[in-house]
Amino acid sequence: MPISREFQRRLYPKLKQITDWFGTAAHIYDFNGIIRSGSSLVNAFCSQGLSYNNFYAVKACPNPAILKIMLILGFGFDCSSIDELRRVRAIGATPNKIMFTSNNTSLAEFREAIAHGGCILNFDDISLIKKFIKHFPGRLAGLITCVRYNPGKLHTSGGHVFGSPEEQKYGVTDKQFLGAYRLLLRGGAKSIGFHIMICSNNRCSSYFIKTIKIALAKAALLKLELDLEVPFINIGGGFGIPYLPGKKCRELDVDRIGWFAGKLFAAFRDKYGFEPKLFTECGRYVTGPNGVLVCRIINRLVKYKTFFGVDSGMYDLPRPAFYGVYHHISILTPQGNPRHGGRKFRAHVSGSLCESWDRFTPKPRLLPVSTKVGDLCVVHEDGAHTLAMGGTYNGRLQSQELFLLDKFVIRIGRAKRPKDLHITYGCKPKTLRIRN
Ligand SMILES: Cc1ncc(COP(=O)(O)O)c(C=O)c1O
Repeated sequence: MPISREFQRRLYPKLKQITDWFGTAAHIYDFNGIIRSGSSLVNAFCSQGLSYNNFYAVKACPNPAILKIMLILGFGFDCSSIDELRRVRAIGATPNKIMFTSNNTSLAEFREAIAHGGCILNFDDISLIKKFIKHFPGRLAGLITCVRYNPGKLHTSGGHVFGSPEEQKYGVTDKQFLGAYRLLLRGGAKSIGFHIMICSNNRCSSYFIKTIKIALAKAALLKLELDLEVPFINIGGGFGIPYLPGKKCRELDVDRIGWFAGKLFAAFRDKYGFEPKLFTECGRYVTGPNGVLVCRIINRLVKYKTFFGVDSGMYDLPRPAFYGVYHHISILTPQGNPRHGGRKFRAHVSGSLCESWDRFTPKPRLLPVSTKVGDLCVVHEDGAHTLAMGGTYNGRLQSQELFLLDKFVIRIGRAKRPKDLHITYGCKPKTLRIRN
Protein backbone atom coordinates (compact mmCIF):
# COMPACT_ATOMS: atom_id res chain seq x y z
CA MET A 1 0.00 0.00 0.00
CA PRO A 2 1.37 3.46 -0.71
CA ILE A 3 2.93 5.14 2.31
CA SER A 4 0.78 7.50 4.36
CA ARG A 5 0.01 10.92 2.89
CA GLU A 6 1.88 12.46 5.78
CA PHE A 7 5.07 10.46 5.12
CA GLN A 8 4.78 11.16 1.39
CA ARG A 9 4.23 14.89 1.97
CA ARG A 10 7.41 15.15 3.99
CA LEU A 11 9.52 12.78 1.91
CA TYR A 12 8.85 13.23 -1.80
CA PRO A 13 9.58 16.97 -2.09
CA LYS A 14 12.93 16.35 -0.33
CA LEU A 15 13.93 13.24 -2.25
CA LYS A 16 16.14 15.02 -4.74
CA GLN A 17 18.03 16.75 -1.93
CA ILE A 18 18.27 13.50 0.04
CA THR A 19 19.47 11.37 -2.86
CA ASP A 20 21.91 14.07 -4.06
CA TRP A 21 23.47 14.16 -0.58
CA PHE A 22 23.35 10.51 0.49
CA GLY A 23 23.18 8.77 -2.88
CA THR A 24 21.05 5.69 -3.56
CA ALA A 25 19.95 3.16 -2.57
CA ALA A 26 18.66 3.95 0.92
CA HIS A 27 16.20 2.60 3.43
CA ILE A 28 14.40 5.65 4.82
CA TYR A 29 12.44 5.44 8.07
CA ASP A 30 9.91 7.99 9.24
CA PHE A 31 10.27 8.93 12.93
CA ASN A 32 6.82 10.57 13.16
CA GLY A 33 5.11 7.61 11.54
CA ILE A 34 6.72 5.09 13.89
CA ILE A 35 5.62 7.12 16.92
CA ARG A 36 2.11 7.33 15.47
CA SER A 37 1.83 3.58 14.77
CA GLY A 38 3.28 2.67 18.17
CA SER A 39 0.96 5.08 19.96
CA SER A 40 -2.07 3.66 18.18
CA LEU A 41 -1.36 0.28 19.81
CA VAL A 42 -0.97 1.87 23.24
CA ASN A 43 -4.20 3.85 22.81
CA ALA A 44 -6.16 0.84 21.59
CA PHE A 45 -5.38 -1.24 24.68
CA CYS A 46 -4.67 1.25 27.46
CA SER A 47 -7.85 3.21 26.73
CA GLN A 48 -9.75 0.05 27.73
CA GLY A 49 -8.15 0.07 31.17
CA LEU A 50 -5.78 -2.78 30.36
CA SER A 51 -2.32 -2.98 31.78
CA TYR A 52 -0.69 -3.29 28.37
CA ASN A 53 2.68 -3.06 26.70
CA ASN A 54 4.23 -3.96 23.37
CA PHE A 55 7.57 -5.75 23.22
CA TYR A 56 8.87 -4.64 19.82
CA ALA A 57 10.17 -7.61 17.81
CA VAL A 58 13.81 -6.64 17.32
CA LYS A 59 14.17 -8.92 14.31
CA ALA A 60 11.76 -6.68 12.38
CA CYS A 61 14.18 -3.75 12.21
CA PRO A 62 17.19 -4.11 14.51
CA ASN A 63 18.83 -0.75 13.83
CA PRO A 64 19.70 0.74 17.27
CA ALA A 65 18.29 4.15 16.29
CA ILE A 66 14.94 2.51 15.56
CA LEU A 67 15.11 0.52 18.79
CA LYS A 68 15.66 3.74 20.72
CA ILE A 69 12.27 5.00 19.48
CA MET A 70 10.74 1.99 21.21
CA LEU A 71 12.27 3.24 24.46
CA ILE A 72 10.62 6.62 23.85
CA LEU A 73 7.30 4.79 23.39
CA GLY A 74 7.91 2.92 26.67
CA PHE A 75 7.96 -0.41 24.82
CA GLY A 76 9.89 -3.50 25.75
CA PHE A 77 11.72 -5.78 23.30
CA ASP A 78 11.15 -9.25 21.97
CA CYS A 79 14.54 -10.86 21.32
CA SER A 80 15.34 -14.27 19.94
CA SER A 81 19.12 -14.37 19.67
CA ILE A 82 22.22 -13.39 21.60
CA ASP A 83 22.86 -10.46 19.29
CA GLU A 84 19.37 -9.11 19.77
CA LEU A 85 19.71 -9.37 23.56
CA ARG A 86 22.99 -7.46 23.41
CA ARG A 87 21.59 -4.79 21.12
CA VAL A 88 18.73 -3.90 23.43
CA ARG A 89 20.85 -4.05 26.57
CA ALA A 90 23.34 -1.72 24.90
CA ILE A 91 20.64 0.91 24.46
CA GLY A 92 19.50 0.61 28.08
CA ALA A 93 16.61 -1.87 28.05
CA THR A 94 15.97 -3.16 31.58
CA PRO A 95 15.44 -6.89 32.39
CA ASN A 96 11.65 -6.61 32.77
CA LYS A 97 11.45 -4.96 29.34
CA ILE A 98 13.21 -7.81 27.53
CA MET A 99 11.35 -10.94 26.49
CA PHE A 100 13.55 -13.75 25.19
CA THR A 101 11.41 -15.83 22.86
CA SER A 102 13.90 -18.19 21.30
CA ASN A 103 13.40 -21.62 19.84
CA ASN A 104 15.89 -24.46 19.40
CA THR A 105 17.74 -22.67 22.19
CA SER A 106 21.44 -23.30 22.87
CA LEU A 107 23.12 -23.19 26.28
CA ALA A 108 25.00 -20.09 25.17
CA GLU A 109 21.68 -18.36 24.51
CA PHE A 110 20.30 -19.30 27.92
CA ARG A 111 23.55 -18.07 29.50
CA GLU A 112 23.24 -14.70 27.78
CA ALA A 113 19.53 -14.46 28.57
CA ILE A 114 20.07 -14.80 32.32
CA ALA A 115 23.18 -12.59 32.42
CA HIS A 116 23.09 -8.84 33.16
CA GLY A 117 20.04 -9.03 35.42
CA GLY A 118 18.24 -11.48 33.14
CA CYS A 119 15.06 -11.02 31.19
CA ILE A 120 11.63 -12.60 30.83
CA LEU A 121 12.57 -16.08 29.71
CA ASN A 122 10.07 -17.73 27.41
CA PHE A 123 10.31 -21.53 27.02
CA ASP A 124 9.39 -22.97 23.65
CA ASP A 125 9.60 -26.68 24.49
CA ILE A 126 9.46 -29.12 27.43
CA SER A 127 12.99 -30.34 26.61
CA LEU A 128 14.26 -26.76 26.88
CA ILE A 129 12.78 -26.39 30.36
CA LYS A 130 14.56 -29.61 31.40
CA LYS A 131 17.79 -28.44 29.78
CA PHE A 132 17.61 -25.12 31.63
CA ILE A 133 16.93 -26.75 35.02
CA LYS A 134 19.81 -29.20 34.49
CA HIS A 135 22.38 -26.61 33.47
CA PHE A 136 21.27 -23.65 35.57
CA PRO A 137 20.03 -25.22 38.84
CA GLY A 138 18.31 -22.84 41.19
CA ARG A 139 18.13 -20.05 38.64
CA LEU A 140 14.41 -20.27 37.83
CA ALA A 141 13.39 -18.80 41.18
CA GLY A 142 14.86 -15.39 40.45
CA LEU A 143 13.50 -15.10 36.91
CA ILE A 144 10.25 -14.14 35.32
CA THR A 145 9.52 -17.06 33.03
CA CYS A 146 6.92 -17.91 30.44
CA VAL A 147 5.69 -20.82 28.32
CA ARG A 148 4.95 -20.58 24.61
CA TYR A 149 1.76 -22.45 23.77
CA ASN A 150 0.80 -23.91 20.41
CA PRO A 151 -2.95 -24.58 20.25
CA GLY A 152 -2.74 -27.02 17.32
CA LYS A 153 -6.19 -27.62 15.87
CA LEU A 154 -7.84 -25.14 18.24
CA HIS A 155 -6.72 -22.18 16.12
CA THR A 156 -5.30 -21.41 12.69
CA SER A 157 -2.35 -19.29 11.63
CA GLY A 158 -4.49 -17.40 9.13
CA GLY A 159 -1.83 -17.30 6.40
CA HIS A 160 0.67 -19.25 4.36
CA VAL A 161 3.90 -17.82 5.80
CA PHE A 162 3.60 -19.42 9.24
CA GLY A 163 1.81 -22.62 8.17
CA SER A 164 -0.91 -24.24 10.28
CA PRO A 165 -0.13 -24.37 14.03
CA GLU A 166 0.34 -28.14 13.91
CA GLU A 167 3.01 -27.79 11.22
CA GLN A 168 4.96 -25.17 13.14
CA LYS A 169 8.08 -25.75 15.18
CA TYR A 170 6.93 -23.36 17.91
CA GLY A 171 5.46 -23.90 21.35
CA VAL A 172 4.25 -26.70 23.61
CA THR A 173 1.25 -28.71 22.47
CA ASP A 174 -2.11 -28.76 24.19
CA LYS A 175 -1.23 -32.10 25.81
CA GLN A 176 2.13 -30.84 27.07
CA PHE A 177 0.72 -27.56 28.36
CA LEU A 178 0.08 -28.25 32.05
CA GLY A 179 3.16 -30.48 32.26
CA ALA A 180 5.35 -27.59 31.14
CA TYR A 181 4.04 -25.36 33.93
CA ARG A 182 4.34 -28.17 36.52
CA LEU A 183 7.94 -28.68 35.47
CA LEU A 184 8.73 -24.99 35.89
CA LEU A 185 7.02 -24.88 39.29
CA ARG A 186 8.95 -27.94 40.47
CA GLY A 187 12.12 -26.30 39.19
CA GLY A 188 11.44 -23.35 41.51
CA ALA A 189 9.86 -20.82 39.11
CA LYS A 190 7.73 -18.30 40.96
CA SER A 191 6.43 -16.14 38.16
CA ILE A 192 5.29 -17.83 34.92
CA GLY A 193 3.51 -16.02 32.14
CA PHE A 194 1.71 -17.29 29.05
CA HIS A 195 2.73 -16.78 25.43
CA ILE A 196 1.09 -17.62 22.14
CA MET A 197 2.08 -16.63 18.60
CA ILE A 198 1.03 -18.69 15.62
CA CYS A 199 0.35 -16.16 12.88
CA SER A 200 2.06 -13.61 10.70
CA ASN A 201 0.77 -10.46 9.04
CA ASN A 202 -2.85 -11.04 9.92
CA ARG A 203 -5.30 -8.16 9.43
CA CYS A 204 -8.40 -9.75 10.91
CA SER A 205 -9.30 -8.35 14.34
CA SER A 206 -11.56 -11.36 15.10
CA TYR A 207 -8.55 -13.59 14.71
CA PHE A 208 -6.71 -11.84 17.55
CA ILE A 209 -9.85 -11.69 19.68
CA LYS A 210 -10.03 -15.48 19.37
CA THR A 211 -6.35 -15.70 20.33
CA ILE A 212 -7.07 -13.66 23.46
CA LYS A 213 -10.01 -15.93 24.33
CA ILE A 214 -7.80 -19.01 23.97
CA ALA A 215 -5.11 -17.37 26.12
CA LEU A 216 -7.57 -16.44 28.87
CA ALA A 217 -9.05 -19.95 28.83
CA LYS A 218 -5.54 -21.29 29.42
CA ALA A 219 -4.92 -18.76 32.19
CA ALA A 220 -8.15 -19.96 33.83
CA LEU A 221 -7.04 -23.58 33.52
CA LEU A 222 -3.74 -22.75 35.22
CA LYS A 223 -5.58 -21.05 38.06
CA LEU A 224 -7.98 -23.95 38.53
CA GLU A 225 -5.52 -26.81 38.09
CA LEU A 226 -2.31 -25.41 39.57
CA ASP A 227 -3.55 -22.39 41.52
CA LEU A 228 -1.18 -20.36 39.35
CA GLU A 229 -1.96 -16.75 38.54
CA VAL A 230 -0.17 -15.84 35.32
CA PRO A 231 1.28 -12.34 35.63
CA PHE A 232 0.85 -11.68 31.92
CA ILE A 233 -0.53 -12.99 28.68
CA ASN A 234 1.62 -12.31 25.63
CA ILE A 235 -0.24 -12.77 22.33
CA GLY A 236 2.92 -12.20 20.27
CA GLY A 237 3.18 -10.21 17.06
CA GLY A 238 1.66 -10.90 13.69
CA PHE A 239 -0.54 -7.78 13.62
CA GLY A 240 -0.78 -7.26 9.88
CA ILE A 241 -0.45 -4.25 7.61
CA PRO A 242 -1.93 -3.86 4.13
CA TYR A 243 0.72 -4.38 1.46
CA LEU A 244 -1.72 -4.26 -1.47
CA PRO A 245 -3.23 -0.92 -2.44
CA GLY A 246 -6.96 -0.31 -2.62
CA LYS A 247 -9.90 -0.32 -0.27
CA LYS A 248 -10.29 -4.11 -0.34
CA CYS A 249 -7.02 -4.48 1.51
CA ARG A 250 -8.28 -3.09 4.81
CA GLU A 251 -6.21 -2.15 7.81
CA LEU A 252 -6.25 -4.16 11.01
CA ASP A 253 -8.76 -2.64 13.45
CA VAL A 254 -6.62 -2.52 16.60
CA ASP A 255 -9.26 -0.48 18.44
CA ARG A 256 -11.71 -3.34 18.01
CA ILE A 257 -9.18 -5.81 19.41
CA GLY A 258 -8.56 -3.41 22.32
CA TRP A 259 -12.28 -3.02 23.01
CA PHE A 260 -12.89 -6.78 23.11
CA ALA A 261 -9.73 -7.37 25.11
CA GLY A 262 -10.96 -4.85 27.71
CA LYS A 263 -14.26 -6.71 28.06
CA LEU A 264 -12.67 -10.17 28.11
CA PHE A 265 -10.03 -9.25 30.70
CA ALA A 266 -12.63 -7.54 32.93
CA ALA A 267 -14.86 -10.63 32.82
CA PHE A 268 -11.84 -12.79 33.63
CA ARG A 269 -10.96 -10.58 36.61
CA ASP A 270 -14.51 -10.75 37.95
CA LYS A 271 -14.52 -14.53 37.72
CA TYR A 272 -11.01 -15.42 38.86
CA GLY A 273 -10.08 -12.52 41.12
CA PHE A 274 -6.91 -11.43 39.31
CA GLU A 275 -6.07 -9.80 36.00
CA PRO A 276 -2.95 -10.60 34.01
CA LYS A 277 -1.19 -7.87 32.05
CA LEU A 278 -1.55 -8.01 28.27
CA PHE A 279 1.56 -7.95 26.10
CA THR A 280 2.05 -8.00 22.35
CA GLU A 281 5.26 -8.37 20.32
CA CYS A 282 4.35 -6.34 17.27
CA GLY A 283 7.18 -5.46 14.94
CA ARG A 284 5.67 -5.11 11.48
CA TYR A 285 2.68 -3.10 12.70
CA VAL A 286 4.92 -0.48 14.32
CA THR A 287 7.63 0.06 11.72
CA GLY A 288 6.52 -1.75 8.54
CA PRO A 289 4.54 1.06 6.87
CA ASN A 290 6.98 3.70 8.10
CA GLY A 291 9.93 2.77 5.93
CA VAL A 292 10.65 2.90 2.20
CA LEU A 293 13.48 1.66 0.08
CA VAL A 294 14.53 4.33 -2.38
CA CYS A 295 16.64 3.07 -5.26
CA ARG A 296 17.50 4.31 -8.72
CA ILE A 297 16.71 2.75 -12.08
CA ILE A 298 20.07 2.12 -13.71
CA ASN A 299 19.02 0.02 -16.72
CA ARG A 300 16.05 -0.72 -18.90
CA LEU A 301 16.46 -4.28 -20.15
CA VAL A 302 14.10 -5.47 -22.86
CA LYS A 303 13.82 -9.24 -23.26
CA TYR A 304 10.64 -11.34 -23.52
CA LYS A 305 9.65 -9.14 -20.59
CA THR A 306 10.87 -5.65 -19.75
CA PHE A 307 13.01 -5.28 -16.64
CA PHE A 308 13.91 -2.05 -14.92
CA GLY A 309 17.19 -2.79 -13.18
CA VAL A 310 17.75 -0.85 -9.94
CA ASP A 311 20.78 -0.26 -7.73
CA SER A 312 19.35 -2.49 -5.01
CA GLY A 313 17.97 -6.00 -4.87
CA MET A 314 16.68 -8.84 -2.76
CA TYR A 315 19.63 -8.42 -0.39
CA ASP A 316 17.92 -5.17 0.71
CA LEU A 317 14.33 -6.39 0.64
CA PRO A 318 13.89 -10.12 0.09
CA ARG A 319 10.20 -10.60 0.92
CA PRO A 320 8.96 -10.65 -2.73
CA ALA A 321 11.70 -13.13 -3.65
CA PHE A 322 11.23 -15.33 -0.57
CA TYR A 323 7.46 -15.38 -0.33
CA GLY A 324 6.26 -14.05 -3.69
CA VAL A 325 4.46 -11.23 -1.87
CA TYR A 326 3.51 -7.77 -3.08
CA HIS A 327 5.32 -4.56 -2.14
CA HIS A 328 3.89 -1.41 -3.64
CA ILE A 329 6.23 0.48 -5.98
CA SER A 330 6.13 4.13 -7.05
CA ILE A 331 8.22 5.59 -9.84
CA LEU A 332 9.38 9.16 -9.36
CA THR A 333 11.36 11.47 -11.60
CA PRO A 334 14.90 12.24 -10.39
CA GLN A 335 13.39 15.46 -8.97
CA GLY A 336 11.03 13.42 -6.79
CA ASN A 337 7.81 13.96 -8.72
CA PRO A 338 5.61 10.86 -8.92
CA ARG A 339 5.05 9.60 -12.45
CA HIS A 340 1.38 8.85 -12.08
CA GLY A 341 -1.22 9.22 -14.74
CA GLY A 342 -0.53 8.51 -18.39
CA ARG A 343 -0.23 5.17 -20.10
CA LYS A 344 1.09 2.12 -18.29
CA PHE A 345 2.70 -1.13 -19.32
CA ARG A 346 3.80 -4.29 -17.54
CA ALA A 347 7.40 -4.60 -16.45
CA HIS A 348 9.54 -6.04 -13.67
CA VAL A 349 11.75 -4.17 -11.22
CA SER A 350 14.81 -6.27 -10.55
CA GLY A 351 18.23 -6.21 -8.93
CA SER A 352 21.52 -7.54 -10.27
CA LEU A 353 21.94 -10.84 -8.45
CA CYS A 354 22.48 -13.96 -10.52
CA GLU A 355 19.24 -15.25 -9.08
CA SER A 356 16.01 -15.22 -11.08
CA TRP A 357 13.91 -14.21 -8.11
CA ASP A 358 15.97 -11.12 -7.47
CA ARG A 359 13.05 -8.82 -8.20
CA PHE A 360 10.70 -6.62 -6.26
CA THR A 361 7.84 -7.69 -8.53
CA PRO A 362 6.99 -11.40 -8.32
CA LYS A 363 4.64 -10.73 -11.26
CA PRO A 364 5.19 -8.00 -13.90
CA ARG A 365 3.74 -4.74 -12.58
CA LEU A 366 1.88 -1.92 -14.36
CA LEU A 367 4.38 0.92 -14.48
CA PRO A 368 4.22 4.29 -16.24
CA VAL A 369 5.29 4.14 -19.89
CA SER A 370 7.31 7.28 -19.18
CA THR A 371 9.59 5.42 -16.67
CA LYS A 372 13.22 6.20 -17.49
CA VAL A 373 16.73 5.25 -16.49
CA GLY A 374 17.69 7.70 -13.74
CA ASP A 375 14.23 7.69 -12.17
CA LEU A 376 13.75 6.89 -8.51
CA CYS A 377 11.96 3.72 -7.52
CA VAL A 378 10.28 3.79 -4.11
CA VAL A 379 9.46 0.39 -2.63
CA HIS A 380 6.89 0.73 0.15
CA GLU A 381 6.44 -1.11 3.48
CA ASP A 382 10.17 -1.41 3.94
CA GLY A 383 10.18 -0.82 7.72
CA ALA A 384 9.99 -4.42 8.93
CA HIS A 385 11.37 -7.84 8.00
CA THR A 386 13.19 -6.48 4.97
CA LEU A 387 16.82 -5.35 5.28
CA ALA A 388 17.29 -7.54 8.35
CA MET A 389 16.27 -10.60 6.31
CA GLY A 390 18.62 -9.87 3.44
CA GLY A 391 22.02 -11.40 2.86
CA THR A 392 25.29 -11.04 1.04
CA TYR A 393 24.88 -13.56 -1.81
CA ASN A 394 26.98 -12.66 -4.86
CA GLY A 395 28.97 -10.30 -2.65
CA ARG A 396 26.26 -7.69 -2.94
CA LEU A 397 26.38 -4.84 -0.47
CA GLN A 398 23.30 -3.91 1.54
CA SER A 399 22.28 -0.28 1.40
CA GLN A 400 22.46 2.52 3.95
CA GLU A 401 19.70 3.41 6.41
CA LEU A 402 18.40 6.96 6.89
CA PHE A 403 16.11 8.51 9.41
CA LEU A 404 13.61 11.17 8.31
CA LEU A 405 12.96 13.75 11.04
CA ASP A 406 11.11 17.05 10.68
CA LYS A 407 14.16 19.17 9.98
CA PHE A 408 16.89 16.61 9.39
CA VAL A 409 17.73 13.42 7.61
CA ILE A 410 20.30 11.40 9.54
CA ARG A 411 22.27 8.42 8.37
CA ILE A 412 21.76 5.72 10.99
CA GLY A 413 23.48 2.87 9.19
CA ARG A 414 26.08 3.01 6.42
CA ALA A 415 25.99 0.78 3.38
CA LYS A 416 27.97 -2.46 3.70
CA ARG A 417 31.52 -2.26 2.38
CA PRO A 418 33.48 -5.05 0.72
CA LYS A 419 35.67 -5.36 3.81
CA ASP A 420 32.56 -6.16 5.90
CA LEU A 421 32.07 -9.24 3.75
CA HIS A 422 35.70 -10.33 3.99
CA ILE A 423 36.24 -9.82 7.70
CA THR A 424 35.63 -13.47 8.64
CA TYR A 425 38.42 -14.67 6.34
CA GLY A 426 41.01 -12.80 8.36
CA CYS A 427 40.74 -15.37 11.14
CA LYS A 428 43.69 -17.10 12.78
CA PRO A 429 44.16 -20.40 10.94
CA LYS A 430 43.11 -23.43 12.96
CA THR A 431 44.01 -26.89 11.69
CA LEU A 432 42.97 -30.41 12.53
CA ARG A 433 45.32 -33.26 11.70
CA ILE A 434 42.98 -36.11 10.84
CA ARG A 435 43.86 -39.34 12.69
CA ASN A 436 43.92 -42.60 10.75
C1 LIG B 1 8.07 -14.77 18.58
C2 LIG B 1 7.80 -13.65 17.66
N1 LIG B 1 7.33 -12.52 18.17
C3 LIG B 1 7.07 -11.45 17.38
C4 LIG B 1 7.30 -11.49 16.03
C5 LIG B 1 7.01 -10.26 15.22
O1 LIG B 1 6.08 -10.42 14.26
P1 LIG B 1 5.53 -9.14 13.49
O2 LIG B 1 6.68 -8.28 13.16
O3 LIG B 1 4.87 -9.72 12.31
O4 LIG B 1 4.58 -8.47 14.42
C6 LIG B 1 7.79 -12.66 15.43
C7 LIG B 1 8.04 -12.71 13.99
O5 LIG B 1 8.54 -13.59 13.38
C8 LIG B 1 8.05 -13.78 16.28
O6 LIG B 1 8.53 -14.91 15.77
